[in-house]
Amino acid sequence: MRVLTGITPSGTLHIGNYFGAMRPAIELQEGGDAFYFIADYHSMTAVTDAAERRDFSLGIALDWLACGLDPAKAVFWRQSAVPEVCELTWLIGSLTPVGLLERAHSYKDKTAKGISPNFGLFAYPVLMAADILLYDTNVVPVGRDQKQHLEMTRDIAIKFNQVYGEVLVVPKEQIRDNVAVVPGLDGQKMSKSYGNTIEIFADEKAVRKKIMGIVMDSRTPAEPKPDADKNLAIQLLKLVAPPDVAADFEARLRAGGLGYGDLKKKLFECYWEYFAAARAKRAELAANLDQVEEVLRDGAERARAVAGPVMQRVRRACGID
Ligand code: TRP
Repeated sequence: MRVLTGITPSGTLHIGNYFGAMRPAIELQEGGDAFYFIADYHSMTAVTDAAERRDFSLGIALDWLACGLDPAKAVFWRQSAVPEVCELTWLIGSLTPVGLLERAHSYKDKTAKGISPNFGLFAYPVLMAADILLYDTNVVPVGRDQKQHLEMTRDIAIKFNQVYGEVLVVPKEQIRDNVAVVPGLDGQKMSKSYGNTIEIFADEKAVRKKIMGIVMDSRTPAEPKPDADKNLAIQLLKLVAPPDVAADFEARLRAGGLGYGDLKKKLFECYWEYFAAARAKRAELAANLDQVEEVLRDGAERARAVAGPVMQRVRRACGID
């Protein structure tokens, strides 16, 4: 049962990414056949600076390795290190109806925002389908926002198989609905585009300032707060504090007598502690970049060992062998 997912290198990760996507993916690596890649080809439409792309790709690699991705358990590589994915993009793209791509939500959203569409943006779902199909993937764990892309991948694979014979494995989606939606600093869903994030790896002072700056209501510390479970700092505390500590603070807030300042201080402390080991690991990796590149090289080799035979099958079926 091969599980595969791609990670777009688009800057700094926040704790919403961590609890929503990274932690579940890292848990899945225990299953033994997890393939995770850094989708640098997918970043072409968003990033046009070479140094920035290099930084983002490497940064994402450090983040994931620091947070527990274990290259002994999961295959981890840069998408562009297996360029056959571009060849497969062309082959399946030649069977992909324009109408299908025109209906893609992410494409429609971006063009509606005034982003001038180019071929890459339009073909993004085809490249994503190739990512998945190139590795005989069975299951793709993604967020709800990627559901339509998965449906398109299935449509494309089925069409290809109808035309050229049973060549491609038709994957199943696994929508992560049961994971925590992490609230941001303003109470909305945490998202880079809302500017309400708490980064996983950021300067201590900067995060402390963000957390201490969370706006709360004007009730006095002494007042009991029957709605303590709705308090943003309590919700965040439940993610990063030991369960008994979170329960204790919630009870104290409910009963009255706990000030918001003390609550936020505790939240910062627990956040800092929660990611302490990952922070140390990341610093160690950053001081040994050769080792990180070696991990990615080794991952690419293992990925390629799977992609090679699939491509051979595909080429033979199409008559370009
Ligand atoms: N488009 C995905 C996202 O933005 C990233 C991605 C690229 C991906 N290729 C993939 C996810 C293949 C799953 C499988 O999150």
